[in-house]
Parts: sequence; C-alpha cells; structure tokens
Amino acid sequence: MPLKVLILGGSSEASALASALAGDPRVDAVLSLAGRTQTPAASPLPRRSGGFGGVQGLADYLTAERIDALMVATHPFAAQMRRHAVAAARLRPTPLLIVDRPPWTPLPGDPWTCVPDMTAAARALGETPRRVLLTVGRQDLAPFAAHAQHSYLIRSIDPPADLPTGAELILDRGPFTETGERRLMEQRRVEVLVTKNAGGDATAAKLAAAQALGLEVVMVDRPSLPDLEGLDGQVVADAVQALDWLSHQARSPTERGV
Ligand SMILES: NC(=O)c1ccc[n+]([C@@H]2O[C@H](COP(=O)([O-])OP(=O)(O)OC[C@H]3O[C@@H](n4cnc5c(N)ncnc54)[C@H](OP(=O)(O)O)[C@@H]3O)[C@@H](O)[C@H]2O)c1
Repeated sequence: MPLKVLILGGSSEASALASALAGDPRVDAVLSLAGRTQTPAASPLPRRSGGFGGVQGLADYLTAERIDALMVATHPFAAQMRRHAVAAARLRPTPLLIVDRPPWTPLPGDPWTCVPDMTAAARALGETPRRVLLTVGRQDLAPFAAHAQHSYLIRSIDPPADLPTGAELILDRGPFTETGERRLMEQRRVEVLVTKNAGGDATAAKLAAAQALGLEVVMVDRPSLPDLEGLDGQVVADAVQALDWLSHQARSPTERGV
C-alpha cells in the first residue's frame, strides 16, 4: 500500500515536493493550500484548498483520510498552520516533518534593523517621511497605515483589501532578479526596504539590490518553531532532506526499526 501523505503547502519547497512525488508509486500524496491566492500555480498532485477548521478539524482529516505522514511545507511566517499541524499530530499521532528553510543573514556592514514583528517594523521607519518599499505580503499592512508620513510602494501577488493612504501598489510574483530589483529601487527612489525574513532564493534579489545601493533594510524576524518534544517529528531545511525523511517513512516499520 502506498504511504498516504498530506503536504501543507504555500511555499516553493511544497511545490518542489509536489513535483518530485507526482507519479511516485510509493506515495499517495495530497497538496493542501490555504486558498488565499487567486491563481495558485498548477499542481502535479491532487490538491485540496481551504482551512481544516482548526486543530481538531485537521486531526479529524488525518484520521478520515488515513494519513501516514504529515509534511508541513508552509511559508516560514505561516505560524498558526505550523502550530495547528503539531497540535493535530499530537491528537492523532502522526509522523510529522516541518520544512524550515534557513533565514537570510546580513553580510558584514549591511544596514539591517531586525525587529520582532510588523508593528515594530512600522515604528522602526521613524518619524521623518521616507520612501519605503514594502514587501511583507498583503495581509500585514495595517501597522503601516498608522505611520502615514511615509510614502509606501507595496508589492504583493494579489491586491490587498486596504492600502495605507497614498500608497502605490505593484502586483508581481517572484522570482525577481537583482538587476530588476535595483532598477525598481532606483526608479522609485526607494530609501528603505521592509521585508519578512522569508529566506530562500526566490525573493533574495531585493537584499542584494538594497546592499548595492546602500539602502537600509528593516527585517522582520521569523516566528519561532513549535515545540516537537514527545512527537515523532523532525525539522529539515529543504525539499531534498524532506524527500529523504519521506523515503524513510515509506519503508516498512520493520525496516525502520519501529
Ligand atoms: N504568511 C506569509 O508570509 C506567507 C507568505 C507566502 C505564502 N504563505 C502561504 O499562505 C498560506 C496562508 O498563510 P498564513 O500566514 O495566513 O497562514 P497561517 O496564519 O499560519 O494560517 C491561518 C489558517 O489558514 C489555514 N491554512 C494555512 N495554510 C494552510 C494550508 N496549507 N492548507 C490548508 N489550510 C491552511 C488554516 O486554517 P484552519 O485553522 O481552518 O485549518 C490556518 O489556521 C499558507 O499556506 C502559507 O504557506 C504565507
């Protein structure tokens, strides 16, 4: 019997896992998306969309679908889904893996201001009006509306429900190039970049461009990982390691030494 796998997606690692597992006879995998993006990329795996209805809803899904392995490949800032996955895997004991790509780190001399959350990021911009490139996603804009002295250039995949007064919007989806990012920053006379510490290559070009132009970066630190103590759980850094973990799960319990 193939291993039944639920992949919680919304990241480039989840897409890589979906591509790698499509057609693999050892697994019967489903990719789950929150359903926020209006035009999600095509998936080579069967896909479900929308929340599970909290921890109990996810635990019930794991039971009903007889899921053998839960792969949490959400974006590093999707903290609630990660917490729910861990709690559900406790309620309905299920081997669990979290894919947590390494965060970006500053190069020596990079003018980064690291802050714990979006409210602190908005405050870190200071009182003096500045031209700000905001790449924090469309759901985290509210704290910036309270600091209306700045001119915001906002980039997101889908349009935000509300924009800070006077903000300009660019609808675009990575990957971006350093040349393109630099051109954008120069043409729009950007003075400071605000970003979540998402890590990964797809959106890292903005940091190289900011560094080349000597721009300040306000970097929002990641939420912490949930505690896996007492769970059959593991954290890995990328899709390759996640596939190794899955190969281990796909072996019989005797082969795994369980
Ligand atoms: N936050 C970011 O910066 C960011 C950036 C890029 C992509 N994303 C992706 O966008 C999605 C939503 O992000 P978020 O920050 O709003 O998440 P979140 O705050 O961690 O999750 C909120 C709720 O959305 C539902 N949900 C989230 N991911 C899901 C998934 N893969 N499948 C089914 N339901 C899911 C769950 O609802 P129930 O409680 O009802 O199950 C969850 O409790 C995530 O899948 C994430 O990977 C997020």
